Amino acid sequence: MTDDSTAGRDSGDNAGDAVVRRARFSGGPAREFLSSLAGDERIFAADLAVDRAHVVMLAEQDIISDDVAGTILGALDDVEAAGHSALSGGEDVHEAIESAVIDRVGPDGGKMHTARSRNDEVAACIRYRLRSDLLDAAETTLALREALIEAAAEHTETLMPGYTHLQPAQPITVGHYLMSYASTVARDTARLLDASDRTNESPLGGAAFAGTPFDIDRERTAELLGFERVVENSMDASSARDFLAEATSALAIHATTLSGLAEDLIIFANKGYLDLSDAYSSTSSIMPQKKNPDTLELTRAVAGDATGELTGVLTTLKGLPRAYNRDLQRAHPHTFRAVDAVVEASSIAAGAVATATWNQEVLVDEAGAGFSTATGVADLLAMAGLPFRTAHEVVALAAEKAEKAKKAETGDSDGAVSAAMLSSAAKAVLGESLFEYVDESAVENALAPAESVASRDSFGGPAPAAVSASITRARERVAADGDAVDRRRAAIDAAESTRNEEVTRYV
Ligand code: ARG
Repeated sequence: MTDDSTAGRDSGDNAGDAVVRRARFSGGPAREFLSSLAGDERIFAADLAVDRAHVVMLAEQDIISDDVAGTILGALDDVEAAGHSALSGGEDVHEAIESAVIDRVGPDGGKMHTARSRNDEVAACIRYRLRSDLLDAAETTLALREALIEAAAEHTETLMPGYTHLQPAQPITVGHYLMSYASTVARDTARLLDASDRTNESPLGGAAFAGTPFDIDRERTAELLGFERVVENSMDASSARDFLAEATSALAIHATTLSGLAEDLIIFANKGYLDLSDAYSSTSSIMPQKKNPDTLELTRAVAGDATGELTGVLTTLKGLPRAYNRDLQRAHPHTFRAVDAVVEASSIAAGAVATATWNQEVLVDEAGAGFSTATGVADLLAMAGLPFRTAHEVVALAAEKAEKAKKAETGDSDGAVSAAMLSSAAKAVLGESLFEYVDESAVENALAPAESVASRDSFGGPAPAAVSASITRARERVAADGDAVDRRRAAIDAAESTRNEEVTRYV
């Protein structure tokens, strides 16, 4: 099976038959529907790389002669120079490139398709392209993390209200808020790197699904393409697309993270906490005074795109019988669309965060609104020995009084809780003075938003010192993840150099 004269489906006398067969199956009304050629532009370069690696391996294994390999590899250079748009004919890029090679060098060109099928070929092309796209996506998340961390570093002391149920809850800082997203996005990076790693495996040699009688070297093609390892089972290699589901899921999760961040920033802009830079805003075509957070709204919407694409992948894959089915041709475009949309949204979010200005005066005023320090006061009483439940009751009663005074507009309260109000609430609940338990000055401190924030200095908490420590660790993690991306890119580049060197031996 290693004899040149029998290798390749279009060799020798069979060439004419092949042309007839292609004509019989590709001319009908379904031609457009069957073809993926236009969308395959995405994997044009990948297909050339896969072809080169495969042809080099075939020559090394003496499955084709060095001369034939050189002829095919030379023609591939030509096809590459002409570009994807010069391809004509064929159901897809794989067939079109092979036809273009045959057009240039004659029937021997058909030997490039020895010991493979379009099924393992397309799987290799998708994986080859997608692993790098996922590294791009991971890198975009690094830029977003950097933007969040650097903005946080400027605002470790800038008070702001923290919310639950979108109601003011406890004062925090802008730095603490931004670092919460730096922390979430770090997991998004990890998921994208994982997805890239599991994508980076070689299905080549699986053939149609059932392997090949030729003495191929699957490890060698994997090495020439920079794949980390071979997908062992030939059926799994040529037909499984779980890597698409994983990649699209990682992208949809990141898009969902972005949508929450975008929503917050839209709300903060609405409240006057934050000014988006003009570069990330739009205006109205009719209302000249308007400055709208359109970029963030579109970022928020990309979660819809990505989730839609994920649904597209999963429902396409669901219940597919083994092995290859043509449905698969419609699976990977979902992932490529998702990665494009998410990379764009993520870098827009990074730019919006990096260029926004936070309005400190407005934020400080709002940080204490709605008795946001109530929990801290209850914590203080509990630290002084009151059961937390009793402390909670005292503080709730004081809050109720303050609220009533505000409603009655007695003038002695704007709704803020004072130490005096707490003291009278304590009398009612405990039957004794609050100041039996704590100093009045400690109560005053607990009521003040800045002191309240500073007191919450547990690991990962909002106190400026705790946030500064988080920032140091987060910067280190970004650097480490950046190295992880670089190492993967370097391995891909090294494989490309090796491949090119091998190719030049034949051309
Ligand atoms: N263009 C196809 C795809 O993207 C690959 C061709 C395999 N075709 C086939 N009939 N087995 O999946």
